[in-house]
Amino acid sequence: MCGIVGYTGQGQAVPFLLAGLNRLEYRGYDSAGVAVMDGGQLSFVKTAGRIAELEEVLAGRGLSGRVGVGHTRWATHGRPNQQNAHPHLGCHGDVAVAHNGIIENHAALRRELEARGHRFRSETDSEVVVHLLEEYSDRDLRQALQAVTARLRGTYALAVVRTQDPNAVGAARQDSPLLIGLGEGENMLASDIPALISHTRRVVVVEDGEVVVLSAEAAHIYNQEGEVERTPLEVGWNLEEAERGGLPHFMIKEIREQPRALRQTMAGRLSEDLSQLQLEIDPGPLPRKLWFVACGTSYHASLVARRLAEDVLAIPAEAELASEFRYRHLALGGEDTVVAVSQSGETLDTLSAMRQAKAMGARVIGVTNVIGSSISREAELNVPTLAGPEIAVASSKAYTTQILALTFLVLAYAKASGRLTAAQEQAWAKELWALPEKAELVLQKEQEIEAVAARLSQAQDVFYVGRGTDYAVAMEGQLKLKEISYLHAEALAAGELKHGTLALIEAGVPVVALLTQGDLIDKTLSNLAEIKARGGWVYAITSHDLLDRQELDHVFVLPAGRDELAPVLAALPLQLLAYYVALLRQTDIDKPRNLAKSVTVE
Ligand code: G6P
Repeated sequence: MCGIVGYTGQGQAVPFLLAGLNRLEYRGYDSAGVAVMDGGQLSFVKTAGRIAELEEVLAGRGLSGRVGVGHTRWATHGRPNQQNAHPHLGCHGDVAVAHNGIIENHAALRRELEARGHRFRSETDSEVVVHLLEEYSDRDLRQALQAVTARLRGTYALAVVRTQDPNAVGAARQDSPLLIGLGEGENMLASDIPALISHTRRVVVVEDGEVVVLSAEAAHIYNQEGEVERTPLEVGWNLEEAERGGLPHFMIKEIREQPRALRQTMAGRLSEDLSQLQLEIDPGPLPRKLWFVACGTSYHASLVARRLAEDVLAIPAEAELASEFRYRHLALGGEDTVVAVSQSGETLDTLSAMRQAKAMGARVIGVTNVIGSSISREAELNVPTLAGPEIAVASSKAYTTQILALTFLVLAYAKASGRLTAAQEQAWAKELWALPEKAELVLQKEQEIEAVAARLSQAQDVFYVGRGTDYAVAMEGQLKLKEISYLHAEALAAGELKHGTLALIEAGVPVVALLTQGDLIDKTLSNLAEIKARGGWVYAITSHDLLDRQELDHVFVLPAGRDELAPVLAALPLQLLAYYVALLRQTDIDKPRNLAKSVTVE
């Protein structure tokens, strides 16, 4: 959480900082601020609330300067008000710091600094950084940053300006994302790529333990040993992908982009005659056990992958929430493989779980959507999703492309271990190829879903049910609804209803049922009959011909195909349903309350 930006160059800093913050607002949005070097003095503006409010205040202030830093906050320590907003300035107003992460030893440092006469103005953990920097004002920026970071425990991406270096921006990183954008006569910093691509596609990833000194002409990165040379990455995304393109929300744009995102993720992985999978993924030997670790939506994609791995590879597989995985006392070793699934590649719980598995000797594989992200770099193998930037806090295209990438990974194991006959391989290739077009067909029925949304928007509670893979998809459906509409929703394995939750079903209670797994449909239909008998209202999503559908109040029909790929298609009406319910309930769809897209705290 939190987004940071920095600029030094021949242009004006504020327009870059504001545009960058707007593109990072998905990381946190409860307060924001900028600090700019203006004629040798540091000027700053901070506001509670959204970037739009900061923009409004800045419009009246005319802050000018060619060097500056900015921040958009997701509060951890201290309420989201103006005082706690970043950048923080030191006692003398000549140093400013924007911080993303958590300084774990802030209380001890604060006591020490207060005893030395520093006056704190905020309740944040971050403010200690700026006072520590004041302590090292006799050192050059690189040395000061190294001295300060040596005192910090926790996670941080820092962006720093100080009046004694009027042309420089300093930065440092530990476990929070930080990128350098290399421009012409200007250099920039940001937490994520979308903030940089209006100015440059040449990006350098800063690694843990490094400090950075940027000027308009050069970007220097240092670790403990000295200066580090690193080749820049060329970002393939374009600006259009990071903008709403006239649509009211990023979320609806990203939902509709899924056929393209699936095609991109698939590109080059099927032979032209569709007889072969050209996966170019070397997963290594088939493990004793395959683990998928992730959070949120990525966890739900992992649940789908777990079933697929069990079915196709016939080996034990587990999907576990990264925040739980870390605290299980697992005896992992070289024969196990852990797949860390993460859109951002920066979610701290997932990253830490992956590091832990690696330290225990397990092979680690990443499935991420962001090149250069921590998980993609630290994994032994990275299987990318090529969904393009996902900006809405609620994930949509990342989920479906994750399922696709995870399917490729499982199939790569199957191929490498001789578990796939030529005929099976061809059948998979044909089905995969048809998937984006089927996704298009589903999305053409957007209006049908809009009508159902009106029914759901009036509910108190919504239940989502399914069996097997359908249960995994139900979990994603309920999360989407909760996240953006603030309606209470719960997902259940259909067979579990009778063990408690059926008590909540009464006349008119809406139940969304997933019926895409042929072998389980009859069983789920029996559970739906139990719901109907108690007056529940059932909205079913199916890819099969249902003989007995008169019991169901509304049926959304998906194109037929392999059951293993049905989750990709079933996710689409669920995403649209959540979107239209949220629209009717007038919530802040792209930035739901209390949430953030990239969760870099534990
Ligand atoms: C946050 C986001 C979710 C996302 C989860 C995991 O909670 O709001 O949309 O699924 O983090 O993020 P990751 O980047 O690891 O997939």
